[in-house]
Amino acid sequence: MTANFVSSLSNALPSDLKRSRMPAHVAVIMDGNGRWAKQRGLPRIMGHRKGVDTLKKLLRCCRDWGVEALTAYAFSTENWGRPTGEVDFLMTLFERVLRKELREMMAEDVRIQFVGDLTALPETLQQEIDRAVQETQDNQGICFSVATNYGGRQEILQACRAIAQQAKSGQLQPEDINEELFSRHLYTANISDPDLLIRTSGEMRISNFLLWQLAYAEFYITDTLWPDFDTDEFHQAMKAFQARDRRFGKVDETEGE
Ligand code: IPE
Ligand code: IPE
Ligand code: MG
Repeated sequence: MTANFVSSLSNALPSDLKRSRMPAHVAVIMDGNGRWAKQRGLPRIMGHRKGVDTLKKLLRCCRDWGVEALTAYAFSTENWGRPTGEVDFLMTLFERVLRKELREMMAEDVRIQFVGDLTALPETLQQEIDRAVQETQDNQGICFSVATNYGGRQEILQACRAIAQQAKSGQLQPEDINEELFSRHLYTANISDPDLLIRTSGEMRISNFLLWQLAYAEFYITDTLWPDFDTDEFHQAMKAFQARDRRFGKVDETEGE
C-alpha cells in the first residue's frame, strides 16, 4: 500500500456522516492555547505554536470532507491589549507560518484570504499576506479565511462608513440599503454565512466574531482546548451538526397546521 493510498483512506468522509448535509461554511474560535500551555508549565506562546498544527489538520480535514469554506479567528481587535511580547510573537508566528505553508496550500488547492483591518499589521506580515492571497487566488479546493485584527463591530462600522459615503455622493439612496447590499460591504462578501460555529475551551461567548454573519449559525462548544482539538472531535462536531434541526425561525413542515 502506498503512503498516498493510506492517507487518502484516512481522510475519507466517515460513514456516519452524510456528504449532502455537511456544513458549507465552518467558522472556528480557536480558544484555549494559553491554558493548554499553562497546564503543562509552558509559556503561553508554546500553546499558540501547537495551535497552528491543529489548524493545519482541521483545514485539511474540512477540504477532504467537502466543507467549502473555513474561517478561523486568529487575532481579534481586542487581542492588541495582550502583553507586547505575546502580540509580537503572534505576528511573527503568522508571518512564518504563511511563508512556510504556501507551497502546501498550493498543493492542496487552498485559497487563502484574510478578514479584518490588515492596515494595522506589521508591514512584513502584510507583504506575506498579499503574496499568499495572490498566489492562491485561483485555487478551488477550499476557501480558507483567517480573521486577523478582526472585530465584528469594527467590520460593521467600516461597512456603514462606506455605505454612508456612497449615499452622500448620491450613488445610492437610503432605501437601497438592504441585507444583501450590507453583506456586500463586509469582509466576508464573497462567502456564504457560516452554518456552524465551533468554539473550543468551553467559553460561552462570541467575543466580537462575525456578529452579522452568525445570525443563524449552529453553535458547537467544546471544553477541549484548541491545541487538543483533533479530527475525532471535529467528527463529533459534524455529527452534532447533522443532527440539528435548523428552522430559521419557521416551524417544521409536519407541524405546520
Ligand atoms: C486563543 O487562545 C488564541 C488567540 C486569541 C490568539 P488564547 O491565547 O486566548 O488562550 P487562553 O484563552 O488564554 O487559554
Ligand atoms: C477570541 O479569543 C479571539 C481569538 C480566538 C483570536 P479570546 O481569548 O481573545 O476571547 P475572550 O477574551 O476569552 O473573550
Ligand atoms: Mg482565550
